Amino acid sequence: MTQSTTELAFTTLPSQNLVSEAELAVILANPGFGDHFTDYTAVIDWTKDGGWQNARVEPYGPIALDPAASVLHYGQEIFEGLKAYRHADGSVWTFRPEANAARLNRSAQRLALPELPESAFIGAVEALVQADQRWVPDQDGESLYLRPFMIATEAFLGVRAAHAVSFRVIASPAGNYFGGELKPISIWISRNYARAGRGGTGAAKCGGNYAASLLPQLEAEANGCKQVLFLDPTNDNAVEELGGMNVFFVFKDGTLVTPELSGSILEGVTRSSVLQLGRDRGMNVVERKITLDEWREGIASGEITEVFACGTAAVITPIGEIKDEQESIGDPTAPAGEVSVSLREELLGIQTGTVEDRHGWLHRLA
Ligand code: COI
Repeated sequence: MTQSTTELAFTTLPSQNLVSEAELAVILANPGFGDHFTDYTAVIDWTKDGGWQNARVEPYGPIALDPAASVLHYGQEIFEGLKAYRHADGSVWTFRPEANAARLNRSAQRLALPELPESAFIGAVEALVQADQRWVPDQDGESLYLRPFMIATEAFLGVRAAHAVSFRVIASPAGNYFGGELKPISIWISRNYARAGRGGTGAAKCGGNYAASLLPQLEAEANGCKQVLFLDPTNDNAVEELGGMNVFFVFKDGTLVTPELSGSILEGVTRSSVLQLGRDRGMNVVERKITLDEWREGIASGEITEVFACGTAAVITPIGEIKDEQESIGDPTAPAGEVSVSLREELLGIQTGTVEDRHGWLHRLA
């Protein structure tokens, strides 16, 4: 559902209830991940007849939704994740927002939601971050996590694509997704649950995929693991992705491998950036099927030297071990691998303005 829309102008409705400077300082001293929300939210409404309209930045707060709103019943929802980074000169930048805008529209197509023009997506992010500038942290490894999302707001219980929708962006100051210092994580192998099936919504960033990951994620946490690994049991246990991030393998010969986009894997913006950084370093970069057997054998033989998770929230996080009731592959106490750490530093350096932005990935917000 593409809509030709004239440029949307955002009006800002000032908040009468700003978080105090003292409270903000306490939050920014230890932001955590996803625990605190800023003063404002950006909103654009859509109706089938009127298209995108009423673009505004308004005070952050609860959404008034009809109890029959179809998002509450049929889960017609999609979302995105990107970050705003503070550079040394005080300016604020984001990373490849047009890639998030394009992915939002691929997700919208799959979930029968309206596509949002890229200019409106980026305009909403700019307007929000300009209103919430003081919330962008300036400490190493910290950022303002931006969460755009689209929900079906029409009050109607028939099962069909909604005729009224709302797009919103909220923001939350963020440190390390996994808390504390960066260290290799343990991952739980999900044998009983799949994330996505053929023809399903695996390639879309929709809430339903994450809802399906929560029960195996509980299992993971009960077994001391930070994330769950999903396999495709119909395809030789091919590695798909983790509950909320993609997976990469570094081979002894310098090859960088990540599971190919099979239709059920999310095309991460960090995933595609890591592929590019690998190519820039002259690494042999390959998107292909990689199975749990190859993972096990590769670690045992030393062919696979490092494994890492990547995503906007996770950045690049080394994986020390994967395990389930039957086996453990890797070493949870091994230090972070050299390639994982240097790719992480390069990526964060580009995002925070200390490493040259060779690919024009940065977009200034404020
Ligand atoms: C992101 O990395 O932005 C995600 O949406 C994944 C989630 C773990 C927060």
